[in-house]
Amino acid sequence: MSEIRIDDLPVREELRGKSPYGAPQLDVPVRLNTNENPYPLPDALVERIAERVREAARHLNRYPDRDAVELRTRLAAYLNDTAGAAGQWIGKENVWAANGSNEVLQQLLQTFGGPGRTAIGFEPSYSMHALIARGTGTGWISGPRHDDFTIDVEAAEKAIAEHRPDVVFVTTPNNPTGNAVPAEAVLTLYDAAQAAKPSIVVVDEAYVEFSHGASLLPLLEGRPHLVISRTMSKAFGAAGLRLGYLAAHPAVVDAVQLVRLPYHLSAVTQATALAALEHTATLLGYVEQLKDERDRLVAELRGLGYEVTDSDANFVQFGRFEDTHAAWRRILDQGVLVRDNGVPGWLRVTAGTPAENDAFLEAVRTLAKDPGLARNNVKKNEEHNA
Ligand SMILES: Cc1ncc(COP(=O)(O)O)c(C=O)c1O
Repeated sequence: MSEIRIDDLPVREELRGKSPYGAPQLDVPVRLNTNENPYPLPDALVERIAERVREAARHLNRYPDRDAVELRTRLAAYLNDTAGAAGQWIGKENVWAANGSNEVLQQLLQTFGGPGRTAIGFEPSYSMHALIARGTGTGWISGPRHDDFTIDVEAAEKAIAEHRPDVVFVTTPNNPTGNAVPAEAVLTLYDAAQAAKPSIVVVDEAYVEFSHGASLLPLLEGRPHLVISRTMSKAFGAAGLRLGYLAAHPAVVDAVQLVRLPYHLSAVTQATALAALEHTATLLGYVEQLKDERDRLVAELRGLGYEVTDSDANFVQFGRFEDTHAAWRRILDQGVLVRDNGVPGWLRVTAGTPAENDAFLEAVRTLAKDPGLARNNVKKNEEHNA
């Protein structure tokens, strides 16, 4: 076949020369680069999934429940259980589910963004927000953060007033930095977005179960333009399942129906997710272990002299490195894969099992001794020598 590349095809202008999203999938002993949950699903849950999928398989000649009613009812119950007293009002009409929260975000941008419209995010943040914006023809605006990676709320308010975006993304806890956004900051941005447009504010809570604080679900009450996006990929340890969901005013749920493909969520996916939800308590037990491990990583990295961003997620951002890629490579050479998210000077490590985290800490311990790599260590050595 003659050699034809993407750019030889009549692809949309904005896709020319671009690369697809994706972290390197390298075959190394310790992979701590994609914020997965390191614990395989427990045997009892695997059995339950098999049972539920076997039952669903009997009906695969039919299309699945297009509205995923049972699943949305169970997800609503999970949200009510975990959001505390203030969240007791969430029903299936407030919840929508899709293939991973990426698809939820895509449906939101197809509904509320699109050609001639814009979305804003405060970067560095989850890079798929900008990529999904591009894929849906939505203009992207990169909003500001402080040097410590907290959102510069004042500058953000100004940016919202100036650009009047149709969609505002707030990721809390933020990826790749790990820090959570205080509720007051989200409320300020929501009010700014309503005054400017009004626009839809999407709070991406993919990692919220790992947070020291509470979910922002209670803020939904009385705020019909607020959407909270969640996933079973992280806390439920089910990244391979592809199940994301949102909670919002029922009108938002009705609106995304306008763009969702019919029968987008397969009967197998729905059956598997329902089985996982039956084992919520066990799975959230792993989350507690991971939170402890995350806190250990933060403390030990700081003990080694690294700068570490406060983390409410299942990963930790650490640095700072003169040569980030060289540091990433040196850690990889020791069999540990972490993530270079392109934030200059910083790398991100996902909390793994205690043994995986030990291997990572061992790798960065040797690195910390190399004054050519860790910038803050260089500073400390200079101070020491002065
Ligand atoms: C902030 C954030 N949102 C959403 C996602 C997408 O998750 P999924 O599509 O697996 O639900 C991720 C995945 O890493 C993420 O980091």
